[in-house]
Amino acid sequence: MSTFASRPSPVRTVGLINLLKGGDGRPLHLVIYHRIRHLIATGALPAGTRLPSSRALAGDLGVARNTVVEAIELLVADGWIETRRGSGAYVAEEPPRVATKPPPPAPEGAAERLTDDLPFSVGIPGLGLFRADAWNRVQARCWRSMPREALLEGHPLGWPALREVVASQVQITRGVVCSPEQVIITSGARNALDLTVRALLGPGSRAVVEDPGYFAVSETLRWNGVTPAPSPVDAQGLRLPDPSEAARMAVMTPACEFPLCVVMSPDRREAWTAWAAERGGWIFEDDYDSEFHFEGQSLPPLAAQPGASRVIYANSFNKLLFPSLRLGYLIVPTSLVELFAKAALELQVNAGIPNQVVLAEFIRDGHLDRHLRTARTAYGARRRRLVAALEQELAGFLEIRRQPVGLHLVARILRGSEAEWIALAAERGVHLVGMSRFATAPAEPGVLLGFAGFDVSDLQAAAAELGRAARAHFGSA
Ligand SMILES: Cc1ncc(COP(=O)(O)O)c(C=O)c1O
Repeated sequence: MSTFASRPSPVRTVGLINLLKGGDGRPLHLVIYHRIRHLIATGALPAGTRLPSSRALAGDLGVARNTVVEAIELLVADGWIETRRGSGAYVAEEPPRVATKPPPPAPEGAAERLTDDLPFSVGIPGLGLFRADAWNRVQARCWRSMPREALLEGHPLGWPALREVVASQVQITRGVVCSPEQVIITSGARNALDLTVRALLGPGSRAVVEDPGYFAVSETLRWNGVTPAPSPVDAQGLRLPDPSEAARMAVMTPACEFPLCVVMSPDRREAWTAWAAERGGWIFEDDYDSEFHFEGQSLPPLAAQPGASRVIYANSFNKLLFPSLRLGYLIVPTSLVELFAKAALELQVNAGIPNQVVLAEFIRDGHLDRHLRTARTAYGARRRRLVAALEQELAGFLEIRRQPVGLHLVARILRGSEAEWIALAAERGVHLVGMSRFATAPAEPGVLLGFAGFDVSDLQAAAAELGRAARAHFGSA
């Protein structure tokens, strides 16, 4: 019998045969996954425990090695175990703390909401992957010597250490060269857009927006008396408007167009920077989700390319760590630093300073980088597994549009309408949102399937549930 050995010792022995007892008809790899996950969650397998090799485990359990490999892959994807090159698999140092759960019954009104804590909601990161223990330690350390000035008003542009860390981080990760003075800490991407619109556009002006696009963009513009000018998104990204369009600003997501997950082509990027230069206009670049590029090479943002002096760059920590954090940032061209500083001061943009102090230290200690590495692996696996499950369960009903980026999949509807799919899903505790929710022009019927915030097993269960619902409703594909 193989053993689970914890480092440095002692050796722990677990009745591995029990892993398979009481299986409830689920695929064997899921039974093994859930049992090991349970052993970790209950502390029976402490952090750092080394798992036997997949060959040894398969031999002990009398199952195919692939079955064990598949279970281990799911456990890695969901952050329960870590693999170390050349030395096998170990229980993660910080296994997930936030419980992930099977889909509960759909609450009232679920069909109308963009985000619900149900699979396939979009915009939910893997909360179980967040290093709560590390955050807690850093936070305790910061509060032991919280500077007095961090508890007073007086940093409308953000905590200086965080502005510094952000300036060096975006240079390393995204090639955006800037000084800390160009960084303004906001409560997120929407807050960043709001400040930009107030600083640069007056009521009665217009701004180009993506169609389909993130509706919060148009809402933010309208609240400021600015008219959104929707422009279609094609395979190269946001199209340039007609030359007669009077807009002097364009709001876009070139790294990962929301919601289509299209990456803007190099030619289109060049055309947009030329557009801004010719009319003395501005590009608001939301670099949201650029950290999660699953296939091929990611492109540098517009803010890192020639023409960057007309680009206002925004990004957010809210989807990287957890949505209620409410911290993000803007990087403004040097020519705009004074204007934005005045606007931020007068409008009191101010995101809470103590959390900024903690975040700066969290990043400095390397926890954000570590989190991103874990999240990339986990999200990549979740995405791959969801694609496979959907292809198996929903072939003939939905067609997945393969995009290299994004934390949700986009599926074209082959049978039925968006409303039918949303209702069908809601009845089964699965959350879908339709493409038309984001579009002003008629859009090809489609739905979004967020995967980042859910364990592989929950995603697979939701895909199977949706497949059963589709067959019951439409007949076989
Ligand atoms: C395109 C886009 N940008 C940014 C964000 C994040 O916004 P915030 O930082 O305000 O939470 C979202 C959230 O859903 C989004 O869809």
